[in-house]
Amino acid sequence: MKIGFFDSGKGGASVLSVVKSLLPDAEYKYIADSKNCPYGEKSDVDLKKITKLHVDNLKSWGAEIIVIACNTATTRCIEYLRGEFPELKFVGTEPAIKLAAESNAKNILVMATPGTIKSERLQTLVKSNQKPGQNITLLACPGLADAIEHDQNIASTLDQILEGIPTADFDLVVLGCTHYSLIKPEIQQKFPSAKLVDGNEGVAKRVKSLTC
Ligand code: DGL
Repeated sequence: MKIGFFDSGKGGASVLSVVKSLLPDAEYKYIADSKNCPYGEKSDVDLKKITKLHVDNLKSWGAEIIVIACNTATTRCIEYLRGEFPELKFVGTEPAIKLAAESNAKNILVMATPGTIKSERLQTLVKSNQKPGQNITLLACPGLADAIEHDQNIASTLDQILEGIPTADFDLVVLGCTHYSLIKPEIQQKFPSAKLVDGNEGVAKRVKSLTC
């Protein structure tokens, strides 16, 4: 089984490693599109063009399953790509809001790129999963994926984004961008009493179910 991945750089590697641990015998190809990072700041038209090229490339390699290892590209392009490539199976990565809402957490913070935060899909995920008495705060994190991608100014970008945010109030933080999973320890330090969750495990289970 050939499984293709793409992301705007190295963030999706955090998804790939979880999928590989469930399906060690599959063949993998990973496109790290660092040149176009950050996707969160691209227009819909540009992002559709870019992601279509990646899928063309992975399809030529022989991929049967495409994992969009990027929350931004998933929330904004997955329906378009499914329409363009009906012969392929797509698995997207979405902010783990369902998982967060199903926990007993009362105050949930969702960190994601500006593009993901303003997407309709994110609003739908919140509306359809939020439980009575549960607060879900959305936090756009401009520049953070880019800082992680280029390994530059990560600490100062994070400090700037979290300035004025009552970090001690949150008991659960959703990492809604695959790049953020690569700096879990740094984010955990800022939210000492919160549990951090991402969607990687869910993606891996979904990919496995498509191979059975
Ligand atoms: N890893 C991508 C995501 O999950 C980063 C997005 C970006 O390049 O802005 O959203």
